[in-house]
Amino acid sequence: MSGNEWETDDYDDNHGFVYEYGASVVELLDPQPGERILDLGCGTGHLTKEIAARGADVLGIDASAEMIETASEEHSDLDFRQADARTVEPDGEFDAVFSNAALHWIPEADHDAVLAMVEEALAPEGRFVAELGGTGNIQQIATTTIDELAQRGYDATQPWYFPSIGEYTPRIEEYGMEVSRAILFDRPTELDDGARGLENWLGMFGDSIFEGVPEHDQRAVIEAVEDRLKDDLFDAETSTWTADYRRLRFVAERSDGL
Ligand code: BEZ
Repeated sequence: MSGNEWETDDYDDNHGFVYEYGASVVELLDPQPGERILDLGCGTGHLTKEIAARGADVLGIDASAEMIETASEEHSDLDFRQADARTVEPDGEFDAVFSNAALHWIPEADHDAVLAMVEEALAPEGRFVAELGGTGNIQQIATTTIDELAQRGYDATQPWYFPSIGEYTPRIEEYGMEVSRAILFDRPTELDDGARGLENWLGMFGDSIFEGVPEHDQRAVIEAVEDRLKDDLFDAETSTWTADYRRLRFVAERSDGL
């Protein structure tokens, strides 16, 4: 997965919108009492907890040891495991696989491994319900940051995978699932912490873009990005940054025998 070092306190305190918005993906999942559910990329476990609160038996996995440590401390009654979605071997069958805001961290070429794992994990008629950044997600933030880095001689590339419906749903269907719903939508997302919102966001999520860039150049890039984006993404009256999120959300079911 694209490397990011996770400060889990900062993640929970200042980026709570990640799981707050994810609550509606849990609604779409509609977990039922007694169902066995795999939460892929569970982070600090807030949505794992919501799924468990519906009476489901849920396993949260995340590639980040820091995330799993925090999730296990905060929700000690739940089951979490550090595991990479590309290589984990699912133990037994799951009624559903769920994922919120995690799949875009996995490089495009590795999604076949993930989808093969989901197919293997799902019971017959099991469902895969997920949301990730979709095509055009955080386009202004990412392209402006990469451009400012390039102007200073750094060769940064976009580390995330933000597919379109037309690109991703056939990939899912190659792995024994039928996509019954898919939607791509703009979801402008207000960032926490007022005028520092964009800087914090880049600090939390931009590790791989800024890898190898000295602190003073990072500072200069962030200031330049803020300057270029403030007309579009900053509301001076409320002192709020809004990130240009776009989401791809889908529901697919195992389609054996179709
Ligand atoms: C997202 O949830 O869309 C996202 C979060 C961090 C980095 C890139 C995208």
